[in-house]
Amino acid sequence: MNSINPNDSKSGNRPVILSGIQPTGGLHIGNLFGAIKNWVALQDEYQCFFTIVDLHSITIRQVPAELRRSTLDIAAMLIACGIDTDKSVLFVQSHVSEHAQLAWVLNCYTGMGELSRMTQFKDKSVQHSENVNVGLFAYPVLQAADILLYQADLVPVGDDQKQHLELVRDIAQRFNHNYSDTFKIPEPYIPDTGARIMSLQEPTKKMSKSDGNSKATIFLTDSDEEIKNKIKRAVTDSSELLTLEDFKSFSVNPDSFSDFTNVRFGLGNLISLYHVATNKNFIEIGKEFAGKGFGVIKAIVADSMAEHLNPIRNQYNEIRKDENKLKEVLAEGAEKAHSVAFKTLRKVYKKVGFYSL
Ligand code: TYM
Repeated sequence: MNSINPNDSKSGNRPVILSGIQPTGGLHIGNLFGAIKNWVALQDEYQCFFTIVDLHSITIRQVPAELRRSTLDIAAMLIACGIDTDKSVLFVQSHVSEHAQLAWVLNCYTGMGELSRMTQFKDKSVQHSENVNVGLFAYPVLQAADILLYQADLVPVGDDQKQHLELVRDIAQRFNHNYSDTFKIPEPYIPDTGARIMSLQEPTKKMSKSDGNSKATIFLTDSDEEIKNKIKRAVTDSSELLTLEDFKSFSVNPDSFSDFTNVRFGLGNLISLYHVATNKNFIEIGKEFAGKGFGVIKAIVADSMAEHLNPIRNQYNEIRKDENKLKEVLAEGAEKAHSVAFKTLRKVYKKVGFYSL
């Protein structure tokens, strides 16, 4: 099994990416268009580490058997989406013990006040008020460890992770300042469109795995029929027809969707979905949708999304069947990840003054 060789031109000379995803519930189109699509696109240019963050997921109570199954489901789905394990390192977070070890050290360099300001902590402590545990509070510190262990240059994520990444940068800068340069300071990489796919039922809220309303979220394993039904039932803000001039009044820049999506939440979400599924720009979509009723627009978006997801689902069904192959891929990924992570951890232990044998 190969480890990552820092002198190898295939790995060491390329800038590094790390990103992660929780193995809870199925992946949805927010995960795909907010993060995974960029992971796939950047694989050739970067040395990529993608991790299935099971340590993070137990900050919310999980059913153990489901978590175990879902970890393999997510691995298979990432490969089906285009993660190439010959190019990128795919691994499960709990298989590389350095994540938990570095997180402990970084806990001691993070303020309670900083963590209390995290909006995800505030939201999740309301959603799961029966179990506001220390892990949920310290969650962003573990995320810092994930990223800093690999000296990542870039972290491709959706918009909801922006605040966590700012904190990761602060923690890294503080540590570097206290000792000497230890960690690379990572940059977030957030797409212009797709960074925030909204719920189909409450378009002012982001789409999420844990939405109580199953019509709100399109999972990557949904059938064509389910995808089409969910989009056809999507909530839109008003039923008035738009002209091309109306579209242009929001933006004449063909690549800018945000002026529209920030005002027309429901329709804006459908237009973003159509863009990410087809790559058509704002003005092309405006021309196509001008004068059309919402029923017709939804049917067009639904067909394009079903067509986009169909090959991913078929690939997934094939890949998921071979558990032994998946286990092999993850074992190899863990070994490669460990070969990089242990070097950073060793450096950190030395700097903070741990006696080494
Ligand atoms: P998670 O598992 O919630 O989501 C995985 C990725 O999907 C993006 N995402 C979305 N993008 C657009 N629209 C949406 N509705 C949407 N929902 C989710 C997320 O921004 C994310 O990029 N804390 C992270 C996991 C993590 C991580 C890391 C990420 C742990 N360690 C280190 C990057 C680097 C999380 O819970 O993502």
